[in-house]
Amino acid sequence: MSPSFTLFLLLLNNLVDAQHTGTYEPELHPRFPITTCASPSAPCRTLNTSLVMDAEWRWLHKKDTWTNCYEWSTWNTTICPSGAVCAANCALDGAAYESTYGVKTSGANLTLSWLTRVDYSENVGSRVFVLDKGSADGDKYAMWKLLNREIAFEVDASGLPCGLSGSLYLVGMDEDGGMGRYPSNKAGAGYGTGYCDAGCPRDLRFVSGEANVEDWQPNPLRDVFRGTGKFGSCCSEIDIWQANSMANALTAHPCSVDVQTRCEGLACESTCDRAGCDLNNYRLGNKNFYGPGKTVDTSKKFTVITQFITSDDTDSGTLIALRRKYIQNGIIISDTTSTIPSVDPSAGITDSFCRNQKAAFSDRNTFTEKGGMAGISKALAHGMVLVFAITEDQERHMLWLDSNWPSDASPTAPGVSRGACAKDTGHPLDLLGEAQSAKAWFSNVRVGWIGMNEAGL
Ligand SMILES: *[C@@H]1O[C@H](CO)[C@@H](O)[C@H](O)[C@H]1NC(C)=O
Ligand SMILES: *[C@@H]1O[C@H](CO)[C@@H](O)[C@H](O)[C@H]1NC(C)=O
Ligand SMILES: *[C@@H]1O[C@H](CO)[C@@H](O)[C@H](O)[C@H]1NC(C)=O
Repeated sequence: MSPSFTLFLLLLNNLVDAQHTGTYEPELHPRFPITTCASPSAPCRTLNTSLVMDAEWRWLHKKDTWTNCYEWSTWNTTICPSGAVCAANCALDGAAYESTYGVKTSGANLTLSWLTRVDYSENVGSRVFVLDKGSADGDKYAMWKLLNREIAFEVDASGLPCGLSGSLYLVGMDEDGGMGRYPSNKAGAGYGTGYCDAGCPRDLRFVSGEANVEDWQPNPLRDVFRGTGKFGSCCSEIDIWQANSMANALTAHPCSVDVQTRCEGLACESTCDRAGCDLNNYRLGNKNFYGPGKTVDTSKKFTVITQFITSDDTDSGTLIALRRKYIQNGIIISDTTSTIPSVDPSAGITDSFCRNQKAAFSDRNTFTEKGGMAGISKALAHGMVLVFAITEDQERHMLWLDSNWPSDASPTAPGVSRGACAKDTGHPLDLLGEAQSAKAWFSNVRVGWIGMNEAGL
């Protein structure tokens, strides 16, 4: 499912002296080029894309002052008596990408460090979005339309232990971060606003241009920075890659709404397909496929290819399959193995694969209920925002990805065992001790015609 995240921020002590218009820290989007290849006959192009830190990780302070609007998972209710007043009173500040958040680009390489400690500040995890260009004003997210396309990237998952995920995924956010539909949002895509996903997260500080102060419950864990508000933010999500060195999943989550939509309370649990339809080799019984020393050897770098196959093999067809291939040491690897009767992964994620898998695992088929492949197809046709993240999992300790889930179910029951991690791994407080140097590395992201990566060998 969708990643969760936390941020610890004891004190921002690395602010620059110069004051910019309403900001204490300049916002300089790290350049991160992405290659696109339109057709076998056209030359590939390098897009001048850049990354922007999610607004949820940023320092939020009273406009033109150093007073926090939000600190220790609690709102200052003098400045923020309501969501609308808070939005008018508070400012999101610029992000020091590498020194505060551990986000570093170098050419087409991206490294996300999980934990960054500088003197009195500590940042845990991060989430960045791809902007369509490198400039500072008038920013928009790049909208990816991947029907009849494939996306590929190199990944190094060796620095990600059980309990963490390095993720690359698509969500149905607004191109402008919601500025157009919600005029109280003055920050827009250039400050990483407007996050949504199929988990309809309620731990967001801002939803649809207003602060989520109403009924806000600070997280009971003493040193965790997040809480839960009344509102959540829903949209379709395609988890192209959620992985650590032990496990990975490709998961599609359709929604019953077409664009980013605010939900309230319990409705946040039923607007989208939270569970999703997943392709996880280990869960299908191929336990020797992915991991250190396995068929896809996670102790080394490899290429991940994800194909968006349409009904008529054209850009205007509807999505019928999401297919996964790997390349490592020059060898193309695909996995068609399943020990689960009736579940055949050889065509990738399709409507029938999802129906059969849900039945075999005795899971309710929320994938079909919320729109199935046709719902995902609609979101892709509209264009989706590309996200990179490194996250822990406060609630489920990532066991749904890399261990047994539900954790109290018999591990031999079909679908319960998803990865080789022990079921007591992934507690964020343990990770703070054990995983201080954890990092995710992605490189050479390219988008283009189906088959281009295999042809390029
Ligand atoms: C909350 O904001 C008010 C108004 O700016 C300020 O006087 C007060 O010190 C703040 N409270 C905290 C706990 O920071
Ligand atoms: C990107 O990473 C690769 C592999 O680690 C390295 O060889 C290359 O020099 C890096 N490129 C840049 C521009 O940092
Ligand atoms: C990319 O954008 C940056 C920032 O606006 C600019 O400095 C640079 O010249 C652009 N590069 C290309 C190739 O357009």
